Amino acid sequence: MAKVLLENVYKTFQPSPQKFQKNLAESDCSNPELTVPQAVLRQINLTAEAGEFLVLVGPSGCGKSTLLRLIAGLEPLSAGNIWIGGTLVNNLPPKARDIAMVFQNYALYPHLRVYDNLAFGLRRMGRQLPAGSGFQAQQQKTISDRVLRVAELLQIESLLKRYPKELSGGQKQRVALGRAIARNPQVFLMDEPLSNLDARLRTETRAQIVELQRDLGITTIYVTHDQTEAMTMGSRIAVMDRGQIQQIASPLEIYNTPANRFVAEFMGSPPMNFLSVQYTKTLLLTHPGFQIVLPYSWEHPLQSYDQKSIILGIRPEHFRVNSLELKLDLTSDSTANLNRLKIRVHRLESLGHETLVYGELVYGELVQPQSRNFSLTKSAQILVRVSGEFAVTAGDLLWLEVMVDKLQLFDSETGLSLLPKP
Ligand SMILES: Nc1ncnc2c1ncn2[C@@H]1O[C@H](COP(=O)(O)OP(=O)(O)O)[C@@H](O)[C@H]1O
Ligand SMILES: [Mg+2]
Repeated sequence: MAKVLLENVYKTFQPSPQKFQKNLAESDCSNPELTVPQAVLRQINLTAEAGEFLVLVGPSGCGKSTLLRLIAGLEPLSAGNIWIGGTLVNNLPPKARDIAMVFQNYALYPHLRVYDNLAFGLRRMGRQLPAGSGFQAQQQKTISDRVLRVAELLQIESLLKRYPKELSGGQKQRVALGRAIARNPQVFLMDEPLSNLDARLRTETRAQIVELQRDLGITTIYVTHDQTEAMTMGSRIAVMDRGQIQQIASPLEIYNTPANRFVAEFMGSPPMNFLSVQYTKTLLLTHPGFQIVLPYSWEHPLQSYDQKSIILGIRPEHFRVNSLELKLDLTSDSTANLNRLKIRVHRLESLGHETLVYGELVYGELVQPQSRNFSLTKSAQILVRVSGEFAVTAGDLLWLEVMVDKLQLFDSETGLSLLPKP
């Protein structure tokens, strides 16, 4: 068990000479992105406590793999420090870091059977130990015990005699996981290891990795772009976007109190709805289609927002659509619109236990998209989760009651969350 600590880590890839020349030739000096190498990772401060399961989640291209490769020693740092178990490893080669890495496409040794693939790292470690026949027999036994245990855990006992080419993609990935586990390193680094598995196997393996990690207590940094994987696996989650960490917290904290609009939208599936509203002292949010009276806990944090526009965020599960009365199209007197908004249903996704209702806000001015990440804001769409038993059809008008104690507010300019003060 070892703590992994990253301090002010930066990573910049130098552009390849050809590309650099080309950019110079095109010579758009006004655009620094073309000539100056971009930092792929910026100011990363991150600690995985000894024995912790930390999940690193973010959209494709945000720098997750690069960060793992820096920790593993497969890429040099541009700036900053990395400690593993109290040792500064900035200049240590991968071998000296005592970590095991599992990639999405992990190459197994093609000429070795599954058993020997699993035992390979263990035998290599064993070579450093003093020789002696009794000792070696004991060592063989230890290795085979551990291989069998790992095989059992990952349900690959029946595959031990096969060669990698006789395995399906999912089976290969399990062997790769097994090989890392069998080595019993100080730290596991896993880079989207379940991406190639089918849905059922992925859910199963997800649970097994978590259990296994709990059993072994090996510090694990697990990378994924899948927010469900992050929510279900991590004791803490680090959310990344464009080379920077946006928030590090427990899954529930991330869900309940996202640090900013990016985290609020990225974490949660389907994503949060965003609407631009105006705040009026005291505690009133106004939108062309509805008004919301906020709980008192918002009074203090919104002191400086009088008459200003702010972003209202409502998760699809935070509307009440359960009463029949709410299905009626009430006449639009102002009290009917208090804490309620009206949508016209245009699409339904039935998942059995629940239905996702996609609707158009009936009186709606929606927030302008400020960044590529906020797809829902591009149309006047409101997404609602209702029970699978709720009877609704396309074309219906629905009244949605906002659960005012669950809503989120964000500064329009910075995107940072405003937090209610209890
Ligand atoms: N060797 C490299 N040279 C130049 N750019 C790279 C290199 N490796 C990764 N990048 C860039 O760094 C960014 C982050 O990549 P990566 O860490 O693979 O993201 P993720 O794993 O989150 O999808 C991407 O824009 C990618 O193009
Ligand atoms: Mg990656």
